[in-house]
Amino acid sequence: MLRTHTCGELNMAHVGQIVNLAGWLQRSRDMGGLTFIDLRDRYGITQLVFNMEINSALCMEARKLGREFVLSVTGKVAERSNKNPKMATGDVEMLVDSFTVLNVSKTPPFTIEDNTDGGEELRMKYRYLDLRRGVNRKNLELRHKLGIETRNYLNELKFMEIETPYLIKSTPEGARDFVVPSRMNNGQFYALPQSPQTFKQLLMVAGYDRYFQIVRCFRDEDLRADRQPEFTQIDCEMAFVTQEDILQTFEGLARHLFRVVLNIETGEFPRMSYDQAMKLYGCDKPDLRFGMVFSELNDIVKGKDFKVFDDAELIVGINAAGCSEYSRKQLDELTDFVKRPQVGATGLVYLRYATDGTLKSSVDKFYSPEDLRAIATKCGALPGDLVLILAGRTDKTRSALCDLRLEMGNRLGLRKASEFKPLWVTDFPLFEWDEETRRFYAKHHPFTSPVPEDIPLLDTNPVAMRANAYDLVINGTEIGGGSIRIHNKDLQKKMFTVLGFSDEDSSNQFGFLMNAFEYGAPPHGGIAFGFDRWTTIFGGGESIRDYIAFPKNNSGRDVMIDSPSAIKEEQLKELNIRLTP
Ligand code: AMO
Repeated sequence: MLRTHTCGELNMAHVGQIVNLAGWLQRSRDMGGLTFIDLRDRYGITQLVFNMEINSALCMEARKLGREFVLSVTGKVAERSNKNPKMATGDVEMLVDSFTVLNVSKTPPFTIEDNTDGGEELRMKYRYLDLRRGVNRKNLELRHKLGIETRNYLNELKFMEIETPYLIKSTPEGARDFVVPSRMNNGQFYALPQSPQTFKQLLMVAGYDRYFQIVRCFRDEDLRADRQPEFTQIDCEMAFVTQEDILQTFEGLARHLFRVVLNIETGEFPRMSYDQAMKLYGCDKPDLRFGMVFSELNDIVKGKDFKVFDDAELIVGINAAGCSEYSRKQLDELTDFVKRPQVGATGLVYLRYATDGTLKSSVDKFYSPEDLRAIATKCGALPGDLVLILAGRTDKTRSALCDLRLEMGNRLGLRKASEFKPLWVTDFPLFEWDEETRRFYAKHHPFTSPVPEDIPLLDTNPVAMRANAYDLVINGTEIGGGSIRIHNKDLQKKMFTVLGFSDEDSSNQFGFLMNAFEYGAPPHGGIAFGFDRWTTIFGGGESIRDYIAFPKNNSGRDVMIDSPSAIKEEQLKELNIRLTP
């Protein structure tokens, strides 16, 4: 062993002992007769002291050492005269007797500190150096703890972790697949799984009635702060269960993780239907850390000759408490915000409810003081508040007001990273109609079971059907989603028909699953959680990239290994792939 202790371990109990440490040189300071070196490893930092008077040769050698040199040091633990209460090892230091340079280091391209001077691109290129920083180490430790505790909890409940293949078959539903050419099967391709969905269902047919897997999934979709092309799911499935059993089991998992990882008792999670979430928050993943619920104003504002409102399908407002004194500039900023193409509103109407009780709006021409008061009352506004109103097509207006609500939440500091508001969203619609392709898409996925009483609607009014599906939302992020599955061949086939599959297509693509349903498939259902997202929320972070050891950048590139990259002509030939110039 090159070390007897770690750099995070020594304290007053070790004073007087001769110990060995190994680690990286974080920084060094020459103070005339004394040289101090901070030695760092995964566990912490220990201060080393070299004394010119005691051993000048050793001290001179120590002064030559550069940042990130790898050292093995031997010396005596001593009490510090100048203690540092901020460090775990801050009561002691090591008086060094000897050291060995295990390896030298070039000067790193950025400082290995929490507040580093390195930009994101540079840090991604040298990710192995970036990962030496304490912030990243803590993020990966958190991820590890969540993983271990998930396994502990599910193991206690008799879930079995079973691996499923990564080289599978491409299917047209969901996001785009990443494909892998097969050399042995010329002209044919595997696809990397977007999730182990069909395999976990086959495991239910096989009788493994409680399955889980912490598993990598691959989706070729546009990237955002909460999306990576390869990400990890906590994927789970159970047989012989109802929706209620699944919600209870996995609320149990979530509460366990809150308790053991964050030391937070959450109590029972609230539940909200999809319709309610859309009506009150404009989206299916509401952030419940703050109120500002939507108030629909159609009844009050229509028929007063204000064309924008008269022509709108929905007029809806939120109340920003304490914002009546917003300046012209602030209101203009909000108007610009809602008009951004990503938000897509055509304009913003506001109503100030001054502290003296007077009401003033941007549409005073059309509305009497009584009308304005009625709007304020409907929105729950009090003197000192500001009502913000959008109007237009229902779906677009809700989505834009949802964005504005979150923006106001940010501006008012109402979205604290240390506060947690979990929520189950239930009763999703089964299908979504897409105007462009003029067909139905499964809102969750095609294996999701309808609510049984809605099954007759499959032939008459699919869009009105509710799914036996649910999402777990924490602080406005979709952490997980799942459903009770179809386990009957005929119903599954019908589902594919409504989704526009010919009999031939559905049997080519999903015949294996439908065949399996003919051999005693039990009723089953499950859920999958985004492990990266969950860790990020628990860590109070902004981007899942910060909680993944080797993430891709926003263009889907790993800039450290420079991937994706071209492959050799021979490899292409072997795969019988010809690139068009
Ligand atoms: P779904 O597609 O909703 O369901 O995915 C489950 C959860 O995975 C996370 N997630 C992602 N995280 C990071 N980057 C991505 N690109 C990404 N895409 C999804 C989300 C999401 O809630 N097989 C079903 C689950 C089931 O029905 O059991 C499925 O994959 O947190």
